[in-house]
Amino acid sequence: MKSELGLSAFPSPGRPDLGRVRDLFPIFSEPRRKKLVYLDSASTSQKPRLVIDAEADYYRTTNASVHRGNYELSAESTQLYEQARARVAAFVNAPAPESVVYVRSTTTAINTIANGLAHRLKPGDEILLTEMEHHANLVPWIMLAKRMRLSLRYIPVTEAGDLDLSMLNTLLTRKTRVVAITHLSNVLGTIVPVAEIARTAKQFGAVVVIDAAQAIGHMPLDFQAIGADLLAFSAHKCYGPPGLGFMIGAPEILDLLEPFEGGGQMIHKVFYDDATWAPVPQKFEAGTPNSGAAIAFPAALDLLEAVGLERIRAHERDLAGYTLEKLRALPSIKILGPLDPDKRGGLVSFYDEHIHPHDLATLLDERGVAVRAGHHCAQPLHRKLGLTASARASFGIYTTRDDIDALIDALHFARSYFTR
Ligand SMILES: Cc1ncc(COP(=O)(O)O)c(C=O)c1O
Repeated sequence: MKSELGLSAFPSPGRPDLGRVRDLFPIFSEPRRKKLVYLDSASTSQKPRLVIDAEADYYRTTNASVHRGNYELSAESTQLYEQARARVAAFVNAPAPESVVYVRSTTTAINTIANGLAHRLKPGDEILLTEMEHHANLVPWIMLAKRMRLSLRYIPVTEAGDLDLSMLNTLLTRKTRVVAITHLSNVLGTIVPVAEIARTAKQFGAVVVIDAAQAIGHMPLDFQAIGADLLAFSAHKCYGPPGLGFMIGAPEILDLLEPFEGGGQMIHKVFYDDATWAPVPQKFEAGTPNSGAAIAFPAALDLLEAVGLERIRAHERDLAGYTLEKLRALPSIKILGPLDPDKRGGLVSFYDEHIHPHDLATLLDERGVAVRAGHHCAQPLHRKLGLTASARASFGIYTTRDDIDALIDALHFARSYFTR
């Protein structure tokens, strides 16, 4: 299958042939997008032809309701859907295909986890988060804490943009029931030592939840090696379709969670006054799923594995280092997060002391450079940094140093626009 995808063109070892990688993404050869410098992959990645075709092929040839029809087409569709689940399990080294729950997104996964754990919590219990969480791994816990009178605690972010792990043993107590942390900050770019935190948190008996939304597809990720109980990510951030996410957990941990959404498919028996649940993972998969997206997603995983996660990490580290070097040479630009590219993933947030990030992004867009501006769904972190917003350049496997050069040129243009 891989040679069919044209992936054998990538030499190994060595740097990915970036020209060839970009060729796999139709948007970059779309006549209207010739000038596009896409630096917003942390919001959502562009889609390779392999994924677009896989989803279209499914609708053309195999579309039917999964797990419901007693006819050949539905059986085939179900088989592809379950094969895709097993493929995701292998990709993240989950203990079993049943460890993989299809959900809508990282956001849905974390809401499912928070609500699923509620019945095991009591007032006064503590949830430990970090100060660098995305709202998706913050607001569901705030909602739960309000509802159940839980106490939220936070691992602080240092001036250098790391987590202050010297606080961990103080912040963890015998009341800590859940530790929910990001693997890679979507604002600071910081790579969090999740395995180390998971190890310590487990000594306190806490359930450990990892938000891997920004890590997946950007670096090797091994669920069992991390040692967490649950992990969440979205397909759309790693070259797959939107509307598809994953909650990963050992089947015995998933068993402990109450289902969050009720409806068809997640039940064992239903009466007028009671219901029992299907085994995991179906217990969490109420309603008709996004089978087209699920079945197309393995094509993105094929691409990632063909290029190689280690090589992708090296490529994005190189881009981060190059971006930091270029931005640091601009006097009015301030960078958020660690200045050492070894400590960060493929994204760099920054601001210009004299230009509001929204104005900056609008001016960069005039030069075809697409960056994100705003609080990036991390208002408390921005508030802590004394900011309301920042600009963010984020990378994918198709990003090149030329893209960074275009960003720097556009920043000069923005500066000259405001000083003329
Ligand atoms: C760190 C982090 N967590 C969670 C999310 C939420 O992902 P989604 O919108 O796909 O649910 C994002 C999205 O930007 C993110 O960056």
